[in-house]
Amino acid sequence: MTRSRGDLSRRSFLAGVTGAAALGLPQYAKGGQVVPSLSLLPFLARPTTESILVSVRSGLVDTTARLEIKALLGPTVWSAAGADRSAAAGEFVTWEIGDLAAGSVYDYRVLMAASGEDLMSVATGRFTTQRVGEVGFTAALTADPHTGSFAEGSTPVQALDDVVRNVQRDRPEFVIALGDNVAWNTSRDYAQYDDFGANFAYTMYRQHMAPLSVSCPHFGLIGNWEGESGKFPAESAALMGDVRRRFTPGPNDLTYPQGGSPNEDYYAFDWGPVLFVVLNVQSYSVPSGMLSTPMADVTLVGDWSLGAAQFSWLEGVLAASDHPFKFVCIHHPVGGNAATSMETLYGRGGPRAALVGEQHLVHEMMREFGVQIFFFGHDHVFLDEVVDGIHYALPGSCGAPWKFGREVTGYQRYWPESGHGRLTVRPDLATVEFVNQAGWVIHQFAVEPA
Ligand SMILES: [Fe+2]
Repeated sequence: MTRSRGDLSRRSFLAGVTGAAALGLPQYAKGGQVVPSLSLLPFLARPTTESILVSVRSGLVDTTARLEIKALLGPTVWSAAGADRSAAAGEFVTWEIGDLAAGSVYDYRVLMAASGEDLMSVATGRFTTQRVGEVGFTAALTADPHTGSFAEGSTPVQALDDVVRNVQRDRPEFVIALGDNVAWNTSRDYAQYDDFGANFAYTMYRQHMAPLSVSCPHFGLIGNWEGESGKFPAESAALMGDVRRRFTPGPNDLTYPQGGSPNEDYYAFDWGPVLFVVLNVQSYSVPSGMLSTPMADVTLVGDWSLGAAQFSWLEGVLAASDHPFKFVCIHHPVGGNAATSMETLYGRGGPRAALVGEQHLVHEMMREFGVQIFFFGHDHVFLDEVVDGIHYALPGSCGAPWKFGREVTGYQRYWPESGHGRLTVRPDLATVEFVNQAGWVIHQFAVEPA
């Protein structure tokens, strides 16, 4: 017996369309048409002056997929970004949209069709392409949600959802996620031999970031819970890198003129008058001993290193930059100086570590080339201290429940709250506001162009 569309429609009514959508099951439109849904909503990455990457994950049915785009100002017709393509159930689908104009706003929509059906819109969003020159913009900085460590509905996950909502209200043109974006119980201390934990954590990260990521390009960086420490066997770190690049693609060495790493783990880009340099303090710190975990393996604070290649690349990028503003982003300093020797070796202490280990060299380089702000995470509180004119700024955390106190970090003045950093740039002033989970600005500072 052939099932009619009417049967399908009635079944979906009985099952509840909302329930079907929540499960990623195909929904049924009024006329009886099967409307596919996505298992992961769009995630925007690598915005340049002329291109952007859109990543989705398809739902439970095989589909034909199309991405359409139109400029906010200009013709009102949608145009397809490339040919229609087939997307198998559960598959990641990415579009590299090209031929865009710099500093321009675009709307996009993802269309899908089950076999034999018409294309229907399954997701929409909006983005701004990379800005050039003396213009203003708003961006966001988040840190340490540790997504994957805590159950749905738990207090840490609610903190992430609250912060995502607050960031979304700022309408930032991009977000820089300062690391420990994902975590699972073995990801810090043990090599990984399968990608089960990483898949789970990155799936949850994509789901909770989705309200933001559909309309805000994401720049991620690597913390000590992403499972990519250089102290792990290379195969383990490479396996975790594969999962990271699939779920949260970022710029590679070819995306921007500043270059970076093909592994998408360090890179630099400019946006208007600002140069952002994004570093990886984890993956190039090599094993120093025979001890069992990366944490135990750091026996000297001088063990932390960017590695020769990243270090000389950083120097080249800063030396070549004539941007009025230069900001460096990293999970924690390339050294440590906290309240105890254990926490020091763990990379805590932010500005207190400005002259410790390899961070001393990074700090001197930042002085020489006029870096105004060093953004970092890891310590889970808000902090703003100035060392030699450079703001060491920690924009809180958005999910990690541990707010480390003075007895751990050694910080004298800090805010033990969840939240995010709001960066507002004008050609004559860049302002950073610390926004707590309730949405209030609890601190702000500003830096002037060089
Ligand atoms: Fe961390």
